Amino acid sequence: MKNPAIDRVMVTGGAGYVGSMLVPALLDAGYAVTVLDLYLYGGEPLAAVRDNPRLTEVKGDMRDPEIVRQALDGADAVIHLACISNDPSFELDPGLGKSINYDCFRPLVRASKAAGVKRFIYASSSSVYGIKEVADVTEDLPLEPLTDYSKFKALCETELLEEREPGFVTLIIRPATVCGYSPRLRLDLTVNILTNHAVNNGTIRVFGGGQLRPNINILDMVDVYLTSLAAPDEQIDGKTFNAGYENHSVMEIAEMVRDEAGGAVGIVVEPTNDNRSYHISSERIARELGFRPKRTIREAVRSLIDAFRAGKIPDSMTDERYFNIKLMQKVHLT
Ligand SMILES: NC(=O)c1ccc[n+]([C@@H]2O[C@H](COP(=O)([O-])OP(=O)(O)OC[C@H]3O[C@@H](n4cnc5c(N)ncnc54)[C@H](O)[C@@H]3O)[C@@H](O)[C@H]2O)c1
Repeated sequence: MKNPAIDRVMVTGGAGYVGSMLVPALLDAGYAVTVLDLYLYGGEPLAAVRDNPRLTEVKGDMRDPEIVRQALDGADAVIHLACISNDPSFELDPGLGKSINYDCFRPLVRASKAAGVKRFIYASSSSVYGIKEVADVTEDLPLEPLTDYSKFKALCETELLEEREPGFVTLIIRPATVCGYSPRLRLDLTVNILTNHAVNNGTIRVFGGGQLRPNINILDMVDVYLTSLAAPDEQIDGKTFNAGYENHSVMEIAEMVRDEAGGAVGIVVEPTNDNRSYHISSERIARELGFRPKRTIREAVRSLIDAFRAGKIPDSMTDERYFNIKLMQKVHLT
C-alpha cells in the first residue's frame, strides 16, 4: 500500500487523537515519518513507536518557521492535522485559535513547497457546510460555516487550492466526526461521549435525539490518509473529498451504545432547542478514490468498551487530557 514515490511523511498533530493512530500505521506501511507536534496531550500516545528508527519527532509550535523548516527536512508529503480542533477550544481564545488554525497555514504550505514536498493533504472538516436541508451533502455545495473554527477550515481550503501548482499535489479531506479508541483519546466527540457515560455512569443523556450526526471509525479515518498517500497524483490532485460512514441520529447512536454496553444502561432524553442535523455524502471518495469505510460505528463503540474494561482509560470523567476544552483551559497556550 506504500507509494513508492513517497518516503518521508511529515504529520503535523501526529501526537493527537487521529495522529497517534495514523503515525504507527504509516510506519507499518513502510513510510518514514516526522511528527511535528506541541504535545499538548503529552508524549505517551506515541510511546509504542518511539523506538522505531524511521520515526523523527519534532516537539514545537508550527507557528514557528524555524521549527517547521526543521520538521520538513526530507519530507515528500505532508498530512496536516494539527489545530485547535473543536469549536469550544477555539472560542476560548479566538486570537490564539486563528493564529494556529489559519495564520500559519499558508506559511506552512509555502515552506512545504520550498522543502520539496510533492503532496499536501489537509484535514479540513465536514462542519464547513453548516446546516443543509438536502439529503445528500456533496462536496459541490456552497460552504456556510457557522463557527470560526469551521470558517477558518474553509479559508485554509481556499488557500491550499491557490497554492496548488504542477508538482505540488493537493488534497482536502472533510472528515465526519471520528470515533473509537486511540492512545490519545478524545472523550468530547459524540460516539465517544455516549460510550463513556454508558460504561462509567450507567446512563446516557440525549438532548433531542433526532439530529443526524455523520461519523467515521478512526481505523477508517487512518485508511483515508493511507489511501490518499498511495493514490496516483491524478486521482487526488486539487480534489476535495468528504469522508464519513453512517449518518445516524443521536438516538440511534445512543441505542447502539446501550446495546453494546449491556447491563441496565438507561437513556434519558432531555429537551433541546438545538435540533441541527449534519449529514454528508461520501460517494465521491468511493467513486474517485475507491475508498469505502470497512468498519462500523458499532465496532468503534466496542473498541472503546474493550479499552474501558481493560483499564486503558483511567479517570475518564475527570482527566482533562480527554477533553480538549479542559486541557486548553489548563495549559494557557499563547
Ligand atoms: N476528531 C474528529 O472528529 C475530527 C473531525 C473532523 C476533522 N478533524 C480534523 O482532524 C485533525 C485531527 O483531529 P484530532 O481529533 O486528532 O485533534 P487533536 O486535538 O487530538 O490533535 C491535534 C494535535 O495538534 C497539536 N497542536 C495543536 N496546536 C499546535 C501547534 N501550534 N503546533 C504544533 N502542534 C499543535 C496538539 O498537540 C495535538 O496533538 C484536525 O485538523 C481536526 O480539525 C477531526
